Amino acid sequence: MIADIVVDLQYGDCGKGKIAHALCRERNYTHVIRYNGGCNAGHTIYHNGEKFVTHHIPCGVFFGIKSIIGPGCVVHVDTFLKEIEQLEEAGIPAKKLVHVSTNAHLITDFHRAEDGRDKEIGTTKKGNGPAYRDKYARKGVRAMHDPRLQPYIVSMYHELYENEDYNEIEILFEGAQGFGLDIDWGDYPYVTSSHCTVGSALLNGVPAKAIRDVWGVAKIYETYVGAKSFEGPDEIFDTIRELGQEYGATTGRPRQINWLDFDMLKMAARINGCTKVIFNKMDILEGLNSWCLYEGPSLYQFDTRKDIELWLSGKLELEVDEDIDVMFSGDREFI
Ligand code: IMP
Ligand code: MG
Repeated sequence: MIADIVVDLQYGDCGKGKIAHALCRERNYTHVIRYNGGCNAGHTIYHNGEKFVTHHIPCGVFFGIKSIIGPGCVVHVDTFLKEIEQLEEAGIPAKKLVHVSTNAHLITDFHRAEDGRDKEIGTTKKGNGPAYRDKYARKGVRAMHDPRLQPYIVSMYHELYENEDYNEIEILFEGAQGFGLDIDWGDYPYVTSSHCTVGSALLNGVPAKAIRDVWGVAKIYETYVGAKSFEGPDEIFDTIRELGQEYGATTGRPRQINWLDFDMLKMAARINGCTKVIFNKMDILEGLNSWCLYEGPSLYQFDTRKDIELWLSGKLELEVDEDIDVMFSGDREFI
């Protein structure tokens, strides 16, 4: 068994969907598995020139790859079924390809209503937190018990270990949210209610030795949506928000913006054991020719794209792993 894992090193919205989509095109995955979160996520994917925003469904579906919502996820059934219909209408055989793990948990309408009243955290109001709370309180309902999900249900164990359809299983794990929103590593309580690291992918039933690559995805600047104050004082952040279209894919909220925080990025790359790190949205800062980042309290400014690229690659090789591959990409460019 081989597994590649895509993780977000910041606060979500770094372009995991784009990387996962590119990897699906390049590699021969048998499965794409969503490993955490629910419909709080919004993955924006451009497939054959058409724009898709999925919340629950992993991107393998665009390539005819079996796509599973794993045991680490929570599922709102109506949203899930609606997404299946939308993909089917666009000619994508989602009914055949998409599956839900027996032991994923349900987000109920009660969870939604409760989350809808949140004022402290600035959640996406999709019921995520209450669903995970009930799961851990042992009051939740597993996906296999919802009659509407019956046609989609698979046993992860059977699928990965007792399925004669595959000589070799090759999985792409597609996560949701990011390191800065991780329930343990993020800035608690301004976090989501699931784990957003590599460990979270493995909890979906795969042995650690299966890991081949860990793709850490970041942006060259940072964005955050939620109740805490995050945006820096620089006026350029208004311009970045417009140029970078930094509005939530799920809620439409404007994302707060700041320069990249290298200390957090390094921590996320270390804890996730990244073999690759990709910085997205280079084209946005290129248009402004403005390149800055924080290391600790110090704000560094760079003259050119090349300068910041060399600094980041050198630091990550020196302080995370000498064999790490560091890449830089524009919004709609390939890796
Ligand atoms: P929840 O996950 O809806 O409970 O929201 C908790 C925090 O995570 C809030 O700050 C949300 O804005 C943030 N969050 C949840 N999902 C995403 C996402 O996909 N992208 C960015 N932020 C997210
Ligand atoms: Mg997103």
